[in-house]
Amino acid sequence: MSVVSLRVNGALHEVDVEASTPLLYVLRNDLGLRGPRFGCGLAQCGACTVIIDGVATRSCVTPVGQVNGEITTLEGLAKDGKLHPLQQAWIDEQVPQCGYCQNGQIMTAKALLDRNPNPTDAEIREGMEGVLCRCMTYYRIQAAIKRVVRSTAASAEEASA
Ligand code: FES
Ligand code: FES
Repeated sequence: MSVVSLRVNGALHEVDVEASTPLLYVLRNDLGLRGPRFGCGLAQCGACTVIIDGVATRSCVTPVGQVNGEITTLEGLAKDGKLHPLQQAWIDEQVPQCGYCQNGQIMTAKALLDRNPNPTDAEIREGMEGVLCRCMTYYRIQAAIKRVVRSTAASAEEASA
């Protein structure tokens, strides 16, 4: 065991774990963050996605000892009691069905929009590729992301008018 320091959602944590422990287990079991979920454990579904220094990362296959950057989980998106625009769009478009994959979908969408705030349909599909949904909510996911893109563009236009 060794003490590992992690910065998660703006707070510093120290955990005493094996460095090879998957980050997902530490986030859920040691820090009590239920946003990232265990789906496959094999980097194949995306349910465990968190953002590390802006990059959507599959925490089930990321050894905790190798993490140096700032980690953001779903719990870190809402600010001052206000949902992140993506969370609100997910509600407005009624995206989830069973809901199991959705945390990973939202985190992947956030990383996508942070690096490209105005993606084309094809870029959204490409950015979200590989985050699996057994309930086939892909069309509503696309609609929710486009809703955020439209409202970000409208706010920018208003601000420059
Ligand atoms: S649980 Fe990590 S990719 Fe499936
Ligand atoms: S909403 Fe059920 S797996 Fe995606």
